[in-house]
Amino acid sequence: MQPDDLDDKTFQQFVELIYEKAGIHMGPHKRALVTSRLAKRMRQLGIEDFRTYYERIRQDTTHTELVNLLDAISTNVTEFYRESRHFDLLQELLTKWEAQGQKRFRLWSAACSSGEEPYTIAITAKRSLNNTSDTRILATDISTQVLEKAQQGEYEEKRLEGVPGQALQRYFSKCRNGAGSRYKVSEDIRNMITFARLNLSTPPFPMQGPFDVIFCRNVMIYFDNDVRRRLLDEMHRLLKPNGFLMVGHSESLSGILSEFKIVEPAVYRKAT
Ligand SMILES: C[S@@+](CC[C@H](N)C(=O)[O-])C[C@H]1O[C@@H](n2cnc3c(N)ncnc32)[C@H](O)[C@@H]1O
Repeated sequence: MQPDDLDDKTFQQFVELIYEKAGIHMGPHKRALVTSRLAKRMRQLGIEDFRTYYERIRQDTTHTELVNLLDAISTNVTEFYRESRHFDLLQELLTKWEAQGQKRFRLWSAACSSGEEPYTIAITAKRSLNNTSDTRILATDISTQVLEKAQQGEYEEKRLEGVPGQALQRYFSKCRNGAGSRYKVSEDIRNMITFARLNLSTPPFPMQGPFDVIFCRNVMIYFDNDVRRRLLDEMHRLLKPNGFLMVGHSESLSGILSEFKIVEPAVYRKAT
């Protein structure tokens, strides 16, 4: 299927649907990307034209195909220890808070993709804190496909390049040998995390908080300023006073009114 096969009106209707349901803004420059991702999903379903696919999503009262559409559209690139400065800072903060007597820690990976981010958070917490600490990580994403993968916690060897040797030895075990070696995250790390589907573009969220640190990285780039602003207000509500928000290094909050104070590039703090 070629981009030309997607007429202007149907393209616009998909763009509006994706924005309405996921807050993801797909301008005309994303037309080729939208076309190829829709086409891939349509091939799986044996559907040949875009209008039929659009009608099918609209008529599906179970919303199953809508979830599949959003899975197909979102970009899930991630890696262990991505933008590693955030994990050095997390270690410093947890160590400091524990030295001040804190025993309960709540962390949130708000667009967790296939799990590399929340597992890196969990490993960092495990390596920083005393064994007696009560540490829980919430990991959410809009895509059910990536959440399934995240929950399995199994990765190809080449995906683990960013993991420090000691952490690799301690928190992963080889589960398949040979050319396609795979490693599984250890049970004690997996048990620290709760995975759930959550659409960041539709606050308020059901969680109570408060969180000590929220990671909301490399997802706000897909949102326009309205969606970003509502999301930031909600994350502000869910953070404890002096709690931290980590965003992707290419995502600045400048120009968006928000109550956060900047600490350093890509790191914000809820002022008391
Ligand atoms: C590029 S990945 C970022 C993963 C990780 N945070 C990182 O920085 O490595 C973006 C993730 O955002 C998710 N996403 C996109 N729109 C979303 C929405 N409206 N609500 C929740 N997650 C969303 C995608 O499914 C994808 O897994």
